[in-house]
Amino acid sequence: MWAGRDVISILDFTREDLEELFRVARRMEEIERRGSDILRGRIVATAFFEPSTRTRLSFEAAAHRLGASVISLHPTVASLAKGESLADTLRMLDGYADVIVMRSRLEGAAKMAAEICVNPVINGGDGTQHHPTQAMIDLYTIKRLKGGVDGLVVGVLGDLKYGRAATSFIFGLTRYRLERIYLISPPELRVREDVMMELDRLGAPIHEVTDLEEALPELDVLYVTRIQKERFPDPAEYERVKGSYRVKLSLLRKAKKDMIIMHPLPRVDELPYEVDRTPHAAYFKQASFGVPVRMAILSLVLGAVVE
Ligand code: NCD
Repeated sequence: MWAGRDVISILDFTREDLEELFRVARRMEEIERRGSDILRGRIVATAFFEPSTRTRLSFEAAAHRLGASVISLHPTVASLAKGESLADTLRMLDGYADVIVMRSRLEGAAKMAAEICVNPVINGGDGTQHHPTQAMIDLYTIKRLKGGVDGLVVGVLGDLKYGRAATSFIFGLTRYRLERIYLISPPELRVREDVMMELDRLGAPIHEVTDLEEALPELDVLYVTRIQKERFPDPAEYERVKGSYRVKLSLLRKAKKDMIIMHPLPRVDELPYEVDRTPHAAYFKQASFGVPVRMAILSLVLGAVVE
């Protein structure tokens, strides 16, 4: 059941919830270009307290495709700049809109917002762990391009310590029966202990390695992430790990022919542009699924049925 629900963590959603979402998203792919009126008269508010390209714009595009209107808070020119609290700001948005999509640097910000707001709150990323709608897009991408998620070998490469897209994706994978999940990172960027304990509790078939080459030949999916420079408390810590991994074209000779490479984007230097020309590159397709999946999320939480 989705109607009226907040979307805070991917772990709040069962496999059945996700399958329902993916059925609606498939339908949304068909109606995306021609548009629909099912959310006419509804207002979607976006409040992004951190930079965003894909998440905010694909939510806004999704709202427009379904006939909803969009209002956007721009934190630097809002009354927050005059000292208004986040809680009061959210209370106002809750009064003006039917659903709020927000992003924050602060761990737990979306949960706090959901406690304050009467209307559904959708977490467009907060802190270092949760980015549930990105994980939904990622799982949908695998289903669409590989036919399903069960039985696959998936590698997640990069900053697993500070990367919320990576962490949410790994949490999302626990809703399926993977053959193996390789966590591939330099030792400094390993998944944090609390996350590892949660993955153990969920029975995820985790295998940690430091070197991509070790896991690569087995992978059906390689999920690459950038180093989250802005989340390092100590710039010296960042300097030590920057440039520590890179998906080189030459390395891909060792990959399965039909392995797909995903990335939540933005990329920096971990995924060279020359990989774009290979049949492995699936990240732009993945980004394009952002709109139909977010159309499905908005329509489901707002209780609107697609014709
Ligand atoms: C991610 C984020 O903001 O967490 N971006 C996204 O939504 N696709 C990943 C990132 O910034 O690296």
